[in-house]
Amino acid sequence: MEYHRRYPLKDLNSFRTEAYAKIFCSPTNIDEIRKCLVDYPDEKKLIIGGGCNLFFTKDFDGLVIKLALYGMHDSSYEEEPDDEVYIEAMASEDWDSFVNYTIESGLCGLENLSLIPGTVGAAPVQNIGAYGAEVKDSIREVVALDMHTGEVVSFTNAECEFAYRDSVFKRKGNYIIISVVFCLQRTFHYQPKYLDLNKELEDVESPTAKDVRDAVIRIRRRKLPDERELPNAGSFFKNPYITVEHAEEIKEAYPELPVFPYKEGWVKTSAAFLIDRAGYKGKRVGDVGTYPNQPLIIVNYGTEDGNEIVGFMNEVRSVVKEQFDIMLDPEVHIF
Ligand code: EPU
Repeated sequence: MEYHRRYPLKDLNSFRTEAYAKIFCSPTNIDEIRKCLVDYPDEKKLIIGGGCNLFFTKDFDGLVIKLALYGMHDSSYEEEPDDEVYIEAMASEDWDSFVNYTIESGLCGLENLSLIPGTVGAAPVQNIGAYGAEVKDSIREVVALDMHTGEVVSFTNAECEFAYRDSVFKRKGNYIIISVVFCLQRTFHYQPKYLDLNKELEDVESPTAKDVRDAVIRIRRRKLPDERELPNAGSFFKNPYITVEHAEEIKEAYPELPVFPYKEGWVKTSAAFLIDRAGYKGKRVGDVGTYPNQPLIIVNYGTEDGNEIVGFMNEVRSVVKEQFDIMLDPEVHIF
């Protein structure tokens, strides 16, 4: 395993901002990961998966570790229920290729999460979700390396402490995810949970998991920009939680405000809606803007400077705060 100095990060973040890592390496197995932790105990560390949920505003003064751990296998036990199949996938496998592989193998559970950019190892970190599903619903176990001790630790689903776009891995930051064990099913029953998806499947009688995957892919291609053409990091902000009273106040002026139940006295609302009604749908300032088909996504029209994205992000946050008294939190990591 080679160490590179002043390594360019532009191609390693989907926003394509320019920055350099002081040191860079790409371990291909657990021993190599341990070696780089031992070789550089005092350097700040950043683990990169697909680089689809982060961007840089400056050089990274430390060690960037881009994992190269590949492979997947059936890890089913004999005593498990007939309908369940466990598949273990290594962290660096491309997420959507893995989803495709499971569907083509006749396994379901991940179809709603089709075409989400990124890697298998990144999926549990922010508990990726789309069309009424979250990856936590299909995870049996996450295998991770503790950077402090060098030990490999296995987390049960409960130990991952999953929440909306959140997990123990995101909060603690000292784990490197090595592999994920998924619990998938052989039989599929479509559950009509998400309006957009139901509409797309209107003409299909008893949809299969493959039908759902194809429908999700069609919706996403219509609504979301392709990062190879228009660099972006998917949803830029999280959907915010507000009190029921606060939602009622907003509904006086905007009765169509989408709200989803959360906990007693609280609801989750739509950041895309708030940005849209604040007049920032398809808004562009210089080389940065919100995507015209889905304002929750900030796109880069040509800057290499992450600070321009931060400037635009702050503008969006302040207009939404001003108009709705809601402070949006970025979902994307900014370095
Ligand atoms: N909306 C508008 N104007 C628009 C677009 C949307 O007002 O131009 C409102 C509508 O009321 C719509 C609502 O926003 O019903 C929700 O929009 P959408 O269904 O596109 O979902 P989202 O809540 O904006 C979330 C995820 C996406 C995921 C979609 C689909 C977050 C932060 N984002 O977006 O995830 O694909 O649901 O399920 O939870 C990602 O994380 O990168 C990502 C793309």
